[in-house]
Amino acid sequence: MLAGVSDIAIHIPKYYLPHEELAKARGVPKEKFHTGLGNRNMAIIPNWEDAVTMGANAAVQLLERNNINPDEVRQLVVSTESGVDHSKPVASFVQGLLNIGTRCRVYEIKHACYGGTAGLIDSIEWISRHNNSEPKGIVIMTDIAKYGFGTLGEPTQGAGALALLVEAKPRLFSLDTMLNGIYSKDVHDFWRPTGHRVPIVDGKYSINCYLTALEGAVSHFRENSGIKEGELLDNLDYLIYHMPFTNMARKAHRHLVEIENKGALPERIEEIFEESFERMVVPSLRGVQEVGNIYTGSVYMGLASLLESEREKVEKKKVGLFSYGSGCGAEFFQCEIKSGISSIVDAIGMNEQLENRKKLTFEQYVQFYSKSDQEILYHPEELTGYKDKFTRFVFTGFQGHKRQYA
Ligand code: HMG
Repeated sequence: MLAGVSDIAIHIPKYYLPHEELAKARGVPKEKFHTGLGNRNMAIIPNWEDAVTMGANAAVQLLERNNINPDEVRQLVVSTESGVDHSKPVASFVQGLLNIGTRCRVYEIKHACYGGTAGLIDSIEWISRHNNSEPKGIVIMTDIAKYGFGTLGEPTQGAGALALLVEAKPRLFSLDTMLNGIYSKDVHDFWRPTGHRVPIVDGKYSINCYLTALEGAVSHFRENSGIKEGELLDNLDYLIYHMPFTNMARKAHRHLVEIENKGALPERIEEIFEESFERMVVPSLRGVQEVGNIYTGSVYMGLASLLESEREKVEKKKVGLFSYGSGCGAEFFQCEIKSGISSIVDAIGMNEQLENRKKLTFEQYVQFYSKSDQEILYHPEELTGYKDKFTRFVFTGFQGHKRQYA
């Protein structure tokens, strides 16, 4: 019996800035962001939320709708590059907020955006060794992708969290992690030195590193799974890429079509690309178009988008996933979606959260992102009506150096 994922939950911040507003303020044509990057809106997180609250807000949904007693959770992993402390893991704060018991392995993982997949694979492999009992693992991917004001990365910003429930007898998909294709290399494409609030990025180089990693991971996946060159697309029904911005999925898919069809005429490559992109990749794009980059959770927001857009059509279908994290680490893997997933899809609520967001002006966005953690913006009356089924926890400030949540 292979372990895997039984449920998926998402938390999306309640504010957003349209790219049209950002383009106006930065003096660039909106087509650069809409057509060039493929993005429409970016999620903006108020400073009374952080990686802890977003992660807990996603994970509490899993506990409640699956009637899980917090004491049943045996492993709680939080993957993030937006940690709030060099020593105390985000996972410990989440453990406290969710009342998870003491017989649980609790830790934080970091490897840029790849950290989410590292946490998931680790949890699946750990739970797989326990298939006589029914232990539960929760993996959280939570991040604030914030770049410097006016930088080229600014229109790719976003924030959000995913939580996945890992079980020995999974209801959504199981995963044979031994087939996964891996690629890692020491590169300086995107990094955030200790103490920096925003990353430093070599943008064009980072895209090249991503595409090289895709090629390496796919080649390893082919070796492990016995799929010959040129046969990968025929073996899969959908593809989800790590998406720092929407058109990265286009670039990645075009590259995959090229390496899968070496020697084909350019017109033929174009034809295969357009047809397969529309059918296999487009159903996973809504999240990134509306939210932006969410680092560790990006691929899994793609999965939530795919599930909400295709619903029962994905049952028994094979999905290929490509996870990339700068630095760099990458993994290409495949899962087969189980039957009978309607109730799981009904509960995700990603579109519901997107529809209920509040639009910010450019000035409000600047105000939100100029404040430090010590200067909480809200007045208590602003939180009236803030709480709902997707949002339970907020950051309320410091007591000494200790972060406080309610
Ligand atoms: P840029 O300088 O804005 O790029 O940086 P550009 O000037 O080439 O424009 C982008 C696209 O817009 C181009 O299309 C232009 O032609 C087009 P492309 O050639 O790519 O197809 N364009 C227009 N289209 C229509 N009308 C117009 C117009 N003007 C231009 N008027 C870049 C883009 C992505 C590099 C930048 O935003 C950046 O540095 N982003 C952050 C880094 C990043 O996202 N890297 C991706 C790979 S690394 C990764 O995924 C890891 C990461 O998630 C971090 C982690 O792991 O933790 C980032």
